[in-house]
This record gives sequence, C-alpha cells and structure tokens, in this order.
Amino acid sequence: MPAEPSPSPLRVLSGIQPTGRFHWGNYFGAIRQYIELQTAGDAYYFIADLHALTTVREPARLRALVHDAAVDLVALGLDPERATLFVQSDVPEVTELTWLLMTVTPMGLLERCHAYKDKKARGLAADAGLFTYPVLMSADILAYDATVVPVGEDQVQHIEVCRDLAGTFNHLYGDVFTLPKPRLVEAGARVPGTDGQKMSKSYENTIDVFEEPAVQKKKIMRITTDSRPMEEPKDPAGDHLFALHELVATPTQRAALADLYRRGGFGYGEVKKALVEAAARFFAEARQRRADLERDPDRIEAILAAGAARARAQAGAVLDRARQACGLERRPGRGRPRAAGSARPAGGGGSP
Ligand code: TYM
Repeated sequence: MPAEPSPSPLRVLSGIQPTGRFHWGNYFGAIRQYIELQTAGDAYYFIADLHALTTVREPARLRALVHDAAVDLVALGLDPERATLFVQSDVPEVTELTWLLMTVTPMGLLERCHAYKDKKARGLAADAGLFTYPVLMSADILAYDATVVPVGEDQVQHIEVCRDLAGTFNHLYGDVFTLPKPRLVEAGARVPGTDGQKMSKSYENTIDVFEEPAVQKKKIMRITTDSRPMEEPKDPAGDHLFALHELVATPTQRAALADLYRRGGFGYGEVKKALVEAAARFFAEARQRRADLERDPDRIEAILAAGAARARAQAGAVLDRARQACGLERRPGRGRPRAAGSARPAGGGGSP
C-alpha cells in the first residue's frame, strides 16, 4: 500500500462569526492574517454560522449575514483558489466531533471561559450553546489538523481549551489530534474601539470595514479623546485615536502624526480628519471589488460549494480517526461509509 502523505507543515485554519458586518478589529486582528497566510500553507477559513446562532435569532438575517461575510472576505483578498472558504454548518462532521470532545471536557474549564463568564457577569441568561461554544470551536480546529490559528487576542483562551481537550483525548485514545497554536499580529491583536475599549460589536464601538463613508466619518469624528489642553505634547503610545490611525496610514503619515503628538499644539479634529481620509484610501480597492462581487451572487455560491466539499473530505477523515480511536466502529451497512484517508497521516500528531 502506498504510504499516507504527510500533512503540509503549515495547516492554517480560522473562523469568523457572521453576527454583523466585519469591523476593523476583525480585519486587522484576523482577516489580514488569513490573507497573508493563504500562500504560506494549506489554508481553511470558514464563516461560523453555528456559533452565530447563539446570538442571531432571525433566519433571514443570518442567511444574509453569511452571504455578506463571504463577499466581504473575498473582496478583502481571500483567494478561493488558494484557500478553502466554507460555511461551518456545511460540515456536519464537526458537530459530531464536538460531541466526542464534549465527553472529555471538564465543566470547570468551560466555566472559566470568558464569553460565558462575561455574559453571566452582566446578569444575562446564557444557554448551553454559549457555554459549550469553546468545544465546538475546538472541533472546528481539530477537524482540519490545523497547526496554526490566526486570531485576535480574545480567542487565545479558546485555543488553549482546544489544546487541552486534544491533549486529553490523545492521552486517552492515542495519537488522534494535531495540537494547534494561535498566531497573533502585534499591531492588530487588540484593536481599540471608538471608546478605547476593545473593538467589539457587543460594546457598540466598532468602525466597520464596508460601512457607508458618511456613517464611518460620523463615527470617527465622535471618537472619544482626552481633555488635555491642545498645546500640551502627548505620548502617541496608548492613545487609541493614534492606534487606529496607525492601522490605516502609510509609514510616512504615521511618523508625521507621531511627531505632531510629541510636539503638541494640534487639535484632535485634525487627526480625525486624517483618519477618515487614510481609511478611505486603505479600503478603496476592496470596496470596488466588493461592488463587483455583489453583482455576481452565483460566484459566491460556487466558491462556498467547492469549499464545503473540500472541507468535508478533510473533516470526515479526522472524524473517522477519532471514532475508531474511541471505539465507535463504522461497520458495513451501518451509517456513512468510512472517509478515504482516515488513517492518521505519518508524523502529523502531537505538539508541533
Ligand atoms: P469573532 O467572530 O468574534 O472574531 C473574528 C476574529 O476577529 C478577531 N477580533 C479582533 N482582533 C483584534 N482586535 C479586536 N478588537 C477584535 N475583535 C475581533 C477575533 O479574535 C477573531 O480572530 N470564536 C470565534 C470564531 C471561531 C473560530 C473558530 C476562530 C469559531 N471557530 C475556530 C478560530 C478557530 C469568534 O467568535 O471570533
């Protein structure tokens, strides 16, 4: 028998929720990395509609958001010829894998996870979907033998949970899962919002990538600033307006603004205007690509269908490996036939 091919050394995977339009935190923390890494190895990126179900309860809206998310990702530079782009719920193998992982998940581990803890602390009712969210996320990652997961800082805890669960499963059943590592970028790991806290839909402090320019301008002009006198020199480090400008400005513009901060004697209004202009330039090409894609919805559907087929083949192989390892045999005539290539690829296990 020919030997199983070894997995590519870099298997990149990440997911993003379609809970609203993408904001700068999503782009600079995650999407920009997706695009950069699509040429560095095998890459799988998906739209996490199952995760979004814990917050989006209107079916038509969810459908529209999933479509918009796919259009946005391609417009921003995700290349479906290089990376596999798919919708999470198109791969039911992942939900089955979630159950296998759930059986090795300590309750205490999930009780410490921040999405659930934050909601509880705010006095809101959490459902089991939100509580077990990190287990589904772990299955998302492990189903593709991912080695690298590009994310923002807020997802690192979840990747640690994934490593924990994979480690426990491997300890119990042998070398089944590949342990992933998060990948963060310094400049975008925690993009601040218009109020200086982490940019997040739930804090209503986002600047969205593709919002109407007039809406975006209004939001930028309302960014909170400190009330120190204009003449006073200011340290650009730690200033969220400066940090936002830094993301979209050219290196020359960045250096000029840092100088201005250190010298003092400027108004924040000037900085905000510069930010509006730099942002418009930075995303101009993507906006144009988005407008073109909007006119071709069949293209997006075809991309997602091809992506789902590739993703299912990969996730099916890993699921079979996990099922066999824990004693859930697939027998002829009972259930789905075993996926091709479900044996553990040589050299793919353990910590990378
Ligand atoms: P989500 O949809 O909340 O966010 C998508 C990505 O955007 C990053 N991000 C930020 N980065 C920097 N600064 C910010 N202010 C900021 N806000 C958001 C997030 O860190 C994330 O990388 N649970 C995930 C989705 C998911 C997933 C996965 C990710 C499901 N399964 C498997 C990786 C692997 C989430 O809710 O991301």
